[in-house]
Amino acid sequence: MDRIISRDQLHFILLKTHSLTGLVPIGAYLVVHLSVNSLRTVGVLPYQLSIDAINNLPFLIWIETIFIYIPLLFHSFMGFYLTKSARYNLSRYRYPRNGLYTLQRVTGAIVFVFLIYHVGTTVVPKWTEGKHLFEAAPFMIGILNEEFGTWTGRIIYLVGITSATFHFANGLWGFCVSWGIVVGKKAQRNAALAFSLLGLALTVMGFATVFEFSMHPESTVPTLAAIPHLDGGS
Ligand code: HEM
Repeated sequence: MDRIISRDQLHFILLKTHSLTGLVPIGAYLVVHLSVNSLRTVGVLPYQLSIDAINNLPFLIWIETIFIYIPLLFHSFMGFYLTKSARYNLSRYRYPRNGLYTLQRVTGAIVFVFLIYHVGTTVVPKWTEGKHLFEAAPFMIGILNEEFGTWTGRIIYLVGITSATFHFANGLWGFCVSWGIVVGKKAQRNAALAFSLLGLALTVMGFATVFEFSMHPESTVPTLAAIPHLDGGS
């Protein structure tokens, strides 16, 4: 019996889906996530309110699973698979020329390990300790204060952030080239410059957040408790 799609077609579809998920939703999530976290540099209250907004979303677990965890797992495992198969089939890939190709794969692996640590030390304790709605923000801020109180924590985050922003910015360039959005040598050079600046801006934002937490750790109480008439208190 004939296959509905050939092996090559399946490979092509998986390759394109892998490339697309790197941009949306994962890349978009990274930009929003680093931006929201950088609110900590404005003050602990704006940061707390932004975490409140996220943790009070209806169907949060479904939103996170569908728009973050499933695409992230698909992108990661496809990334490992492509890295393995690329060794035997380099001609399929468009820009295997230089160190950036290797760095893209190395940073992907670092981000994967970083994310296991990051989610394991933030989201997992939040769920296991039942810190939902307005309880989540002070709990999360407490965890981050502790994390950034040590050099080990700071270094893990600085490496994780740099790897993620490089992987995203360099991946964005690869995406634009392989989807035929940026054609021609000059356009590709300009795009490389623009995406490097974007990557740099995101890195600065992430670093600023880490430094703010490190230099000014502040604990908070749940927003509702801080506004007694909303909490039903006297
Ligand atoms: C300054 C650096 C960062 C800080 C302070 C930070 C903070 C946080 C916090 C507090 C959460 C838990 C949110 C909640 O459940 O309420 C979280 C989740 C998460 N972070 Fe980060 N993060 C940082 C960098 C990164 C980077 C670089 C990545 C990407 C590689 C990343 C990816 C994620 C993912 C995938 C989740 C789980 C999504 C969710 O369930 O909400 N984070 N982060």
